Amino acid sequence: MYFVHPQIKLNGKNFLKIFSCFFRKPDLKNKLSFYFPKKQIVFTDMGRTAFKIIIEKLNLENSEMLVPAYICDIFYPIFKKYNISPIFLDIEPFSFNIKIEEIERKITPKTKSILISHTYGLANNMEKILFLAKKYNLKVIEDCSHSFLGKYKEKYLGNFGDVSFISLYKQFPTLRGGMLICPLDWEIDLEKTFFSFRDFISFLNCFSFFANFFKKYGGEIAYKMLKKEKKERFSEINNVSSNLFSTFLENFEKNLTKRIELALFFQEELKKLNFEVQEEKNNVFCYLSVLAPKKLNRDNFVKLLRKDKIFATRIWHTPIILNPEVQKEYKINLSEYPQTIELAKRIVNFPLQNFYSKKDIEKLIKKIKNTIDKSFLIC
Ligand SMILES: Cc1ncc(COP(=O)(O)O)c(C=O)c1O
Repeated sequence: MYFVHPQIKLNGKNFLKIFSCFFRKPDLKNKLSFYFPKKQIVFTDMGRTAFKIIIEKLNLENSEMLVPAYICDIFYPIFKKYNISPIFLDIEPFSFNIKIEEIERKITPKTKSILISHTYGLANNMEKILFLAKKYNLKVIEDCSHSFLGKYKEKYLGNFGDVSFISLYKQFPTLRGGMLICPLDWEIDLEKTFFSFRDFISFLNCFSFFANFFKKYGGEIAYKMLKKEKKERFSEINNVSSNLFSTFLENFEKNLTKRIELALFFQEELKKLNFEVQEEKNNVFCYLSVLAPKKLNRDNFVKLLRKDKIFATRIWHTPIILNPEVQKEYKINLSEYPQTIELAKRIVNFPLQNFYSKKDIEKLIKKIKNTIDKSFLIC
């Protein structure tokens, strides 16, 4: 079984490591100062909490923010809460990152900040962005949720913006968790949180047997639980998630090198099947993200893959600008975002776990090939 969200391979060594995550006292911050020197690291319950803290600390309420049109709609309630007017930027066809040339065309005197997401693991051109940010006095917020330990010109992402944040569970089996990378003098007071029933479900979801069970019978249980969670105060990460992050951080860089090698091989094979890939260098492949061939019905194809126990495409076939409430609230004219719309129609994220071997990728490719043949037969 193949899943896109981070999985834990169950073997004796991992079992002991994971078991201890339920009892240890977390010890994380020192491990990260190498990657984010001269910055303060704060662990929050979710990435979105870190983003809210950023808005408050940078006084961005009642202002305009430049935002990628191709991003998750969890940002929408936050924009509403703080009365932030997003100015959406369309994306480049193959990097899936913002079209930088739209910044100067769309900026207004009320625009105070820009949200940069290094989507699916590929770095934005930070040189150009920082140049424009300086010119227009914009605060730069880097969202590194897909790009932990990704680099731009040999410097780790997360060190370019005025402030950065990460949603940990995109790349780590941490159940939940956010990381705020901010100036040393920010004072942040967080409420303590504990391992909850929702975390327990997310924990089970890291193992393929349960993940398959939830896909089959549970719908999107954890997702719905998450939507219900409404905390007024900002909260910190719970100890179990913090320990899981610390555990899987240990070999992360080594695993990343292996993952990138496998991803490049995977990309080459997918290109032979007419998928279009994120070609640029320095991709850390949070997801193995590709565009389905134009002639292939993506939704049909993804459904058929599931029959072969390949669960592809987690985010975002419905990016923020396709949310009907967002469209109404900000009077979105979809014709301004042709690339975002095209991507939403054709995006497929394939499974790529840290522990996969070349054999796994070969098996996946074989199944993908068969499924494409079946898809065309059905059409
Ligand atoms: C790029 C990006 N940033 C932020 C978030 C929000 O993170 P969290 O779910 O931890 O609040 C997401 C979630 O999908 C995301 O994909």
